[in-house]
Amino acid sequence: MPAVTVDDLTTLARLSQPGLGDQPRPVLQVTTAPHGYEGDGFPVRRAFAGIDLSLLDPFIMMDQMGEVEYAPGEPKGTPWHPHRGFETVTYMIDGVMEHQDSHGGGGKITNGDTQWMTAGSGILHIETPPEWLVQAGGLFHGIQLWVNLPSDEKMVAPKYQDIRSSEVALATSYDAGSLVRVIAGTVGPQAGPGSTHTPMALVHATVEPGARLDLPWNKDFNALVYVLNGDGTVGTTSSPVHTGQAAVLGAGDYVTVAADGAQESRSPKLDVIVVGGKPIGQAIAWAGPFVMNTKNEVLQAYEDFQKGNFGHIPG
Ligand code: FE2
Repeated sequence: MPAVTVDDLTTLARLSQPGLGDQPRPVLQVTTAPHGYEGDGFPVRRAFAGIDLSLLDPFIMMDQMGEVEYAPGEPKGTPWHPHRGFETVTYMIDGVMEHQDSHGGGGKITNGDTQWMTAGSGILHIETPPEWLVQAGGLFHGIQLWVNLPSDEKMVAPKYQDIRSSEVALATSYDAGSLVRVIAGTVGPQAGPGSTHTPMALVHATVEPGARLDLPWNKDFNALVYVLNGDGTVGTTSSPVHTGQAAVLGAGDYVTVAADGAQESRSPKLDVIVVGGKPIGQAIAWAGPFVMNTKNEVLQAYEDFQKGNFGHIPG
């Protein structure tokens, strides 16, 4: 269950109902995320695998990390690795992750916190569970989203934003049946704390069984709905979606997500990530940890990395 919850949804600001003439976004495609392993072997679902990059634009990929209940000794992270040309957004729903980078930055993200890392011109970093968690085991669940940067911002200086769970903007649907957490961007009257190079919005919503969420969505943004857990439907045609599935939506004014009346007892509510942004519309050359515009720029990134131009691993 997500760490950030609200006992009484009726106390929250309410999103308005769609107005007369507002169009719901149609479902263009539903995909199922394959399982994989990241870093030193933590389980992930590749949320947007199988979706064309032109439909994802401005996003490159997203991993659902876990949800996994680690036994003692099991928690794993990543080794030191580089990035260039985009931003990584790590949202911890449950659990703890520590990070460190080649510019001397570091910190801890836990239970509802988000770390927004602009890799820009280049950074080395490591993401690991703290030692006490490795020994004790525990719950680990989050997402990591890769947001592309436009060509003229790919080489900006690296930067972090640490967004604490208490800063996330909370709202509920007009019928108080959903908890909407706005991490970045503006959704209806709610503005999330994340500041983005590429205009976008990132929302984590928990929908009560049988409830429907109509989420106002910027007309200029694309829209993707990813099911973290639970069963429901998306769009006005009520396309069924289940844990680990992503729906690509077409143009319109709002996103509609409904939770089935009956949910599995291990995840009694429907949890979705809704993400969208203004497409960048430029060529993408993506290899491993580098997202550039041309193959030559990717080769340059590998060369710069090998020369040590991304900084050095702290002793
Ligand atoms: Fe990374």
